[in-house]
Amino acid sequence: MVFVEWKDKYSLENEHIDKQHKFLIQMLNDLAEAGPGDKESAACTCLSRMEKYAQEHFQDEEKLMRDNGYLHLDEHIKEHEGFIQQLEDYKEAVFTKYVPFQDMLEYLNNWLVGHILESDRKYALYIRGD
Ligand SMILES: [Fe+2]
Repeated sequence: MVFVEWKDKYSLENEHIDKQHKFLIQMLNDLAEAGPGDKESAACTCLSRMEKYAQEHFQDEEKLMRDNGYLHLDEHIKEHEGFIQQLEDYKEAVFTKYVPFQDMLEYLNNWLVGHILESDRKYALYIRGD
């Protein structure tokens, strides 16, 4: 069973961004599959990959918003920065301090889905002129 599944309601009707969001969800499933471990573990590799990919994806989104004169770009960038920081913290702390693996998965899942459904939807609607 997969940890999180893509739902049609997550679609922003932007093929490129949807594809990236699907890949982030896939990466979260890979992390869930890897399970907890130490600094050299598969889970740690998954977190590093997710951070790198999220950075690339956020740059694409920020460019899209900037090119379209989106008014709430700055707050959106802050949300992205918060997520990257959280991934950094998890990478550093999850296997050395008491951070239950399941809590980390839940946090990442809630952030990702919540961000897509609220903040990303707002810019997508703005760009589409809805
Ligand atoms: Fe975003």
